[in-house]
Amino acid sequence: MHLSSYPVLGLLLPIACVATLYERAEELPASTSYDFVIVGAGAGGTVLANRLSENPGTTVLLLEAGPSNLGVTDAIIPMLPQGLAVTTYDWNYTTTPQPGFAGRSIGYPRGRLLGGSTSTNTMAYTRASNEEWDRYARLTGDEGWSWKNMQKYMLMNEKFVASADGHNTTGQYNASYHSTTGMVSISLPGYPHPFDSRIIETTKELSEDWPFNLDMNSGYMLGIGWPQQSIDTSARSSGATAYLAAEYMSRPNLHVLVNAHVTRILQTGTDSGKPAFRSVEYTTADVPTGGTSTAARTVVNATKEVILAAGAIGTAQILLLSGIGPEKELSALGIKTILNNPSVGANLTDHPLLSNLFYVNSNETYDSITMNGTLEAEDIAIWNATQQGPLVNSPLAHLGWARVPNNPYGPDTTAGPTTPHYEILFSNGFLSTTTPLPSSGHFMTIVTALTSPAARGSVTLNTSNPFDQPNINPNMLGTDYDMFLMESAVTAVMKIAAADAWKDYIIKPFEDLAAATTPDALKSYIQTKAATIFHPVGTAAMSPKGASWGVTHPDGLVKHTAGLRIIDASILPVIPSAHPQAAIYFLGERGAALVKEAHGC
Ligand SMILES: Cc1cc2nc3c(=O)[nH]c(=O)nc-3n(C[C@H](O)[C@H](O)[C@H](O)COP(=O)(O)OP(=O)(O)OC[C@H]3O[C@@H](n4cnc5c(N)ncnc54)[C@H](O)[C@@H]3O)c2cc1C
Ligand SMILES: *[C@@H]1O[C@H](CO)[C@@H](O)[C@H](O)[C@H]1NC(C)=O
Ligand SMILES: *[C@@H]1O[C@H](CO)[C@@H](O)[C@H](O)[C@H]1NC(C)=O
Ligand SMILES: *[C@@H]1O[C@H](CO)[C@@H](O)[C@H](O)[C@H]1NC(C)=O
Ligand SMILES: *[C@@H]1O[C@H](CO)[C@@H](O)[C@H](O)[C@H]1NC(C)=O
Ligand SMILES: *[C@@H]1O[C@H](CO)[C@@H](O)[C@H](O)[C@H]1NC(C)=O
Ligand SMILES: *[C@@H]1O[C@H](CO)[C@@H](O)[C@H](O)[C@H]1NC(C)=O
Ligand SMILES: *[C@@H]1O[C@H](CO)[C@@H](O)[C@H](O)[C@H]1NC(C)=O
Ligand SMILES: *[C@@H]1O[C@H](CO)[C@@H](O)[C@H](O)[C@H]1NC(C)=O
Ligand SMILES: *[C@@H]1O[C@H](CO)[C@@H](O)[C@H](O)[C@H]1NC(C)=O
Repeated sequence: MHLSSYPVLGLLLPIACVATLYERAEELPASTSYDFVIVGAGAGGTVLANRLSENPGTTVLLLEAGPSNLGVTDAIIPMLPQGLAVTTYDWNYTTTPQPGFAGRSIGYPRGRLLGGSTSTNTMAYTRASNEEWDRYARLTGDEGWSWKNMQKYMLMNEKFVASADGHNTTGQYNASYHSTTGMVSISLPGYPHPFDSRIIETTKELSEDWPFNLDMNSGYMLGIGWPQQSIDTSARSSGATAYLAAEYMSRPNLHVLVNAHVTRILQTGTDSGKPAFRSVEYTTADVPTGGTSTAARTVVNATKEVILAAGAIGTAQILLLSGIGPEKELSALGIKTILNNPSVGANLTDHPLLSNLFYVNSNETYDSITMNGTLEAEDIAIWNATQQGPLVNSPLAHLGWARVPNNPYGPDTTAGPTTPHYEILFSNGFLSTTTPLPSSGHFMTIVTALTSPAARGSVTLNTSNPFDQPNINPNMLGTDYDMFLMESAVTAVMKIAAADAWKDYIIKPFEDLAAATTPDALKSYIQTKAATIFHPVGTAAMSPKGASWGVTHPDGLVKHTAGLRIIDASILPVIPSAHPQAAIYFLGERGAALVKEAHGC
């Protein structure tokens, strides 16, 4: 997370002349009304905008607070952002003090440009287990969300492409599970890591705990395998590059307005006794997080639906600002409650992450690049000239998924016996958001991430100013069960590091990890150094029709309202034990099909 940031080189890819990308509210044709107004251009919103505008008779407006992704080098060259450096295109949030982190607050990045967090994320692409999708079907009472029924949407999203170095990928994935005709480009790493063969050796030496998994996107995730990533051979593939590509942006019935910060949605009367919300209020004044603005707001109406896709933080905040949420919390801030629903903003869930660092005996790590600006500039020039070299990769080298054999804290949180409790990620260098990069040395990181936490947190309003960040409390490691899972994961990593496969490679653990030799010291290491892997979900959860809790029906329509739907990370009723971007794209694909069906369009 230490490569310097290259905001706009502006010289890398030709910027298409795009007729329907608008930068200011006044540029939108005044007379136009829209069938659908979509709020937020991330994983969910870009899919909706694309699919709903396939029918030339359907008009769609997509509103995004951030700028365009075009020409943003950090959102193009895969290795550059390394997770955190893209602050120019971020909301810059922090969490409330986290008791599970010994009271620390942590940075909480969220992408703020076309593509949303898919333009700034680390690009791991995992579908989640078949048990996970079958649990979504059970929890919502909608068989449409089952693994079997979601297959067609998974394949619509995926376009498997060659790796940058063109190597033979036989033995690194199973092509029979994949599509080469979908939208988001997916590929395997395109530049070798010095330890690739040691990973394969590890899966043989420790085959009982860490078998080789040819394809973790087959529905069965356990074991170690090659990472599939949203990389179009050499460049990031995002919701913006895929679903808002020039050929779609040129549709006359799709309008995309950037720099449009939505401040709330407005009631537009009642439909069969339920409040309708078919108006969106926004401003194109450029207001930073924590700022204020009295600039005039603009209102735009949808004739059919307003669809919120502002993500797990943004969507909850917009609902609360609009009077949809817990009445007590809203009235304390002087916001009139239109629909009292205590589930809005509740149950925020995220994956805690810990960077376990090791000194290694190699000078082929990316530390050579992160610690040396001259070499970094050389590698950027190589990427620019040939689309090859170390920068075609994300920081992720291999992924592994595992369960803890015994759990003294019960009940189990996973979707089933072949769904992981935690993940390990191998990275060919020093990858941490909580430990500063040393000035020299060569490193490997084996990240542990808790993927099936029991803790639940919340998003609440701190003020009624739409430009203030809400209180974000993911309640990281907020239960003894979660701490136990993280301790088990670190213990498993120490076993891997001690395997013969790593004998002449790993020199020793980094100081903080080396000191974690007693149960108390291990706990303290985790509390001091853990952070987030950036996966918040669940703040406007789907629940069965008629349930006494939840925010949306299983089709994303907001309960007890009319004309309002949500399709983004906030509607997942449980966090998937996987990197979530693929799941959110799939929500978008099925969500769009449900919208088309509901309106016959
Ligand atoms: C640093 C980082 C690394 C990650 N790494 C991975 C990974 O490797 N693999 C993976 O699967 N997932 C990863 N994720 C998570 C993944 O990107 C998200 O889960 C996914 O993008 C969520 O989709 P979404 O549509 O819910 O929200 P987003 O993609 O975040 O999109 C929400 C959009 O709404 C806009 N918006 C918000 N509020 C407003 C408003 N008031 N008005 C107008 N627009 C608004 C935002 O600017 C944004 O464009 C990562 C995330 C981050 C931040
Ligand atoms: C890739 O490798 C496999 C197995 O070694 C082999 O069968 C296949 O022919 C190779 N493909 C190409 C295109 O070389
Ligand atoms: C790939 O998956 C298919 C379908 O499940 C299976 O029949 C085949 O054996 C798998 N191939 C390999 C090499 O495992
Ligand atoms: C939007 O809808 C509201 C409520 O129905 C109405 O008062 C307003 O005039 C509409 N605005 C536009 C721009 O159509
Ligand atoms: C986040 O911080 C960066 C760097 O300071 C800044 O450029 C950007 O505008 C900030 N984003 C917001 C939404 O305030
Ligand atoms: C949180 O989620 C659980 C199910 O996981 C549900 O029973 C509970 O009602 C939710 N809480 C709120 C406030 O919605
Ligand atoms: C790598 O390290 C070895 C010895 O540790 C050294 O001989 C060699 O020159 C180094 N290579 C580079 C490219 O720095
Ligand atoms: C930094 O990289 C340049 C270019 O590859 C190289 O010449 C130089 O020796 C490197 N500096 C250090 C301190 O390794
Ligand atoms: C990228 O390549 C273009 C020509 O294709 C060149 O003009 C530009 O200087 C290069 N930029 C960098 C950073 O190497
Ligand atoms: C919440 O608002 C208060 C002022 O009302 C401010 O001091 C505090 O920093 C805010 N908290 C966050 C997390 O923004």
